Amino acid sequence: MGEKISPIIRDPWRVVDYASKRGEYKDDNGGLEILTHLPLIDCGLGDSNEPPPQVLKDILIQTLETGTLIEAFWKYPPDRFCEQPSRLIEERFGLDSSGNHEIIFDGPGSYGILAKIIWQLPDLTTQEEIGVLGIGPQFANIASFVEAHGKKQNGYLNFPYLPIQPSLDLPYYEKIRLLIDQRKQMNGHRFIYIDNPNNPTGDFSSLESIRELVEIANQHKDVVIIDEAYGDVVDDNQSAIHLVDQYPNLIVLRGIAKSLGMAGARVGYAIMSKELGELYKSLQLVFGVGGPQQLVLNEVLKPEIIKPHLQQIREKTVLLKRQLINGLTQLGVRVFPTHEAVPILLAQGPVDNFFQRLRRWQIVTERGSDFIKTYPLDDSYVRIKVPGSEEEIIEVLNRVKQALIE
Ligand SMILES: Cc1ncc(COP(=O)(O)O)c(C=O)c1O
Repeated sequence: MGEKISPIIRDPWRVVDYASKRGEYKDDNGGLEILTHLPLIDCGLGDSNEPPPQVLKDILIQTLETGTLIEAFWKYPPDRFCEQPSRLIEERFGLDSSGNHEIIFDGPGSYGILAKIIWQLPDLTTQEEIGVLGIGPQFANIASFVEAHGKKQNGYLNFPYLPIQPSLDLPYYEKIRLLIDQRKQMNGHRFIYIDNPNNPTGDFSSLESIRELVEIANQHKDVVIIDEAYGDVVDDNQSAIHLVDQYPNLIVLRGIAKSLGMAGARVGYAIMSKELGELYKSLQLVFGVGGPQQLVLNEVLKPEIIKPHLQQIREKTVLLKRQLINGLTQLGVRVFPTHEAVPILLAQGPVDNFFQRLRRWQIVTERGSDFIKTYPLDDSYVRIKVPGSEEEIIEVLNRVKQALIE
């Protein structure tokens, strides 16, 4: 693993810039005075606390010395459709390269791939899909993407986003069961979007219930998108990638932001059936992934590099997350079902303005109301990214305690 950047605030300029650009944090202290003498702790943005594998630095130095890095910026990329990293993904997940799948690298991030799929794929399928089913709370951008697609031509109501909104206390696999029951009672063709691990809860469902969902969806000719943007931290064997060769209706999304520490590269990838791959290719641009990104992906994604890196990240997160959950629970903060190695969790404070109180104490989180289009959460709820060190956790817990006392 490479060097850490700085213990408490990584890149303070970046956090502040992000805050002012989004215009959220400044305006949303709920009238509470921000304790500006305290260093800001970013438990909001979902990028990794840990830097990328050391090999990234080695590659950058080496290619800078040989001129390859400059060339990667200078020329159009040699691998027009990023075939080489796709082979590395097949190797990692034990996929047969002659199987019924396409692996597509694209940008910006897995976020960009999801946007393309929701904005445009429904226009390309031969059947008419009537909206997107999901499970709230979930990655809130899905709601905006669906809305944008709906407005394009059909009118919003013809392409609704319909998340089920089960109790937050249920484990994820039970929520998926509820979605399966719901789906069985509906007619027509749909898109189904599930983020697994879930954002904001960090909960994860094993492959068994995902398989059941994909099976039912296949019978209805639905397109299922399993968004595994956080998937690198759970067992590779549990990935829905293992279902793609069997189901023509499945797309699995993956990214490099969350655990590989490469959010800034803005690259994601999708593994989908050949049938859906043919449709997606008509949306894909030549040279969709830049040369410098390709240079590093071809090294970092090698199974012998990525596997030990992820193992280390998982083990570290499990320890830190346990400590955070114990501390929060002792302070009267509720934590909802969550997977031990996923670096985010959903918590509810014993006060209505928990988000704003944390903000006053210079802890930035993702507030509950940001998920409102997917689930009726208010700002007593926050999504917290697990801090990257024990020192930060202790500091976060101290501040939460004070924020709740006042
Ligand atoms: C479920 C989910 N999907 C996609 C993304 C976007 O990730 P990326 O950085 O790969 O675009 C996120 C980031 O928060 C996410 O939580």
